[in-house]
Amino acid sequence: MLQELLFVSFLYFGRVNGIQRWGSQFGQAPLLERFFWRSLDFAYPDETSRTVAMMKGEFVPENALPVGIEIWRNKLFVTVPRWRNGIPATLNYISLDTNRGGSPKLTPYPNWAQNKAGACGSAITTAYRIHADVCDRLWVLDTGTIGTGNTTNTFIANIAVDLGKGGCDDAFAYMSDELGYGLIVYSWEQNKSWRLTHSYFMPDPLAGDYNIGGLNFQWGEEGIFGMSLSPIASNGFRTLFFHPLSSRREFAVSTKILRDETLSQNSYHEFQVLPERGQLGHCTSAIMDENGMQFFNLIDQNAVGCWNSVLPYSPENHAVLVRHDEAMIFPADVKVNRGMLWIISDKMPVFLLSTLNYTDVNFRILTVSVRDAIAGTVCDSSPWGFAGNSLWWES
Ligand SMILES: *[C@@H]1O[C@H](CO)[C@@H](O)[C@H](O)[C@H]1NC(C)=O
Ligand SMILES: *[C@@H]1O[C@H](CO)[C@@H](O)[C@H](O)[C@H]1NC(C)=O
Ligand SMILES: *[C@@H]1O[C@H](CO)[C@@H](O)[C@H](O)[C@H]1NC(C)=O
Repeated sequence: MLQELLFVSFLYFGRVNGIQRWGSQFGQAPLLERFFWRSLDFAYPDETSRTVAMMKGEFVPENALPVGIEIWRNKLFVTVPRWRNGIPATLNYISLDTNRGGSPKLTPYPNWAQNKAGACGSAITTAYRIHADVCDRLWVLDTGTIGTGNTTNTFIANIAVDLGKGGCDDAFAYMSDELGYGLIVYSWEQNKSWRLTHSYFMPDPLAGDYNIGGLNFQWGEEGIFGMSLSPIASNGFRTLFFHPLSSRREFAVSTKILRDETLSQNSYHEFQVLPERGQLGHCTSAIMDENGMQFFNLIDQNAVGCWNSVLPYSPENHAVLVRHDEAMIFPADVKVNRGMLWIISDKMPVFLLSTLNYTDVNFRILTVSVRDAIAGTVCDSSPWGFAGNSLWWES
């Protein structure tokens, strides 16, 4: 079980200029609601083109669900998968210069034309997870799929980007195949990819039952999904932490293995098994910052947790940082940027299995200061900051 040491408080400050501070139901730091939507809208050049798009069925507001975020300079990227018809753009952004709150319209990125569905050579069809690296590259993984029925035995929707010691060209992307139980490695320098499999990529058959947003459902087939990368260790490599979605367990492997096509095919025993997170430990999204602090969503708990990787990966070294049973139903993606934890919550199971109530707020982008959130938790109880010394998980 995750530690539950913090105060429970119910503070409510009300909406001010579209910005609301949610008193965390759990944790000390208040959650700031940056943006909220009942349904999504897109920044059409004018009202006429928006109306025409709606009449033609090219834009169906209630079919749009935001799932992924990334922050780069003054842009907050938001992805919207083409699960249903009427999604005009899958990769979008909100300008953080001109939008300080409220329900801003999404602007297609880089433009409308490159968001055309099905134009595989020239445009993005469906993006889930994206990553902006320190070399100012935005990595966008396009599943290429329309609808939810076209992913029978493969679903490659999550990406982790590994910049090595060799600078911007020393880059690898790791992409998890949740339903094909594989990991695809792409080398930027070689412009080449390879695929590996491992039994640790499979789901735990005992972990396929979920209770989220008042719904009970089974996602029994979901294997390897969330991934996060440690800082570069003294051996020159990062560690990739990963977990199947239908599982409560974390696993780890050195990028030394993944980066070498030959080694990656024949290194079963190089993969490490870490402890389980606990009963309500399903997790889709994880991220590790440059200090070796991992943040992960806890979808069963409407919460985000932390683990300071200088400590062994075990539940007593995890803490819940923020939880909110209204504002954080399905915290689909988490990112860290300049000391701020960003969370998007979207009630995804309600969208997929039931019906969202469009007079209610359904989607939120929330932030909380990392330093404030970890204060007093086990994540803060050891020297914060990645020393670069040999750590327990280095191979
Ligand atoms: C599969 O994708 C095609 C277009 O690529 C789309 O027309 C079709 O509706 C999709 N099928 C399902 C079941 O989602
Ligand atoms: C990478 O390889 C693909 C296919 O082999 C090719 O189409 C593409 O142009 C290459 N990209 C670069 C940057 O060389
Ligand atoms: C929809 O949400 C509104 C606003 O929260 C609420 O007043 C209403 O009762 C909800 N409708 C249903 C059917 O739950």
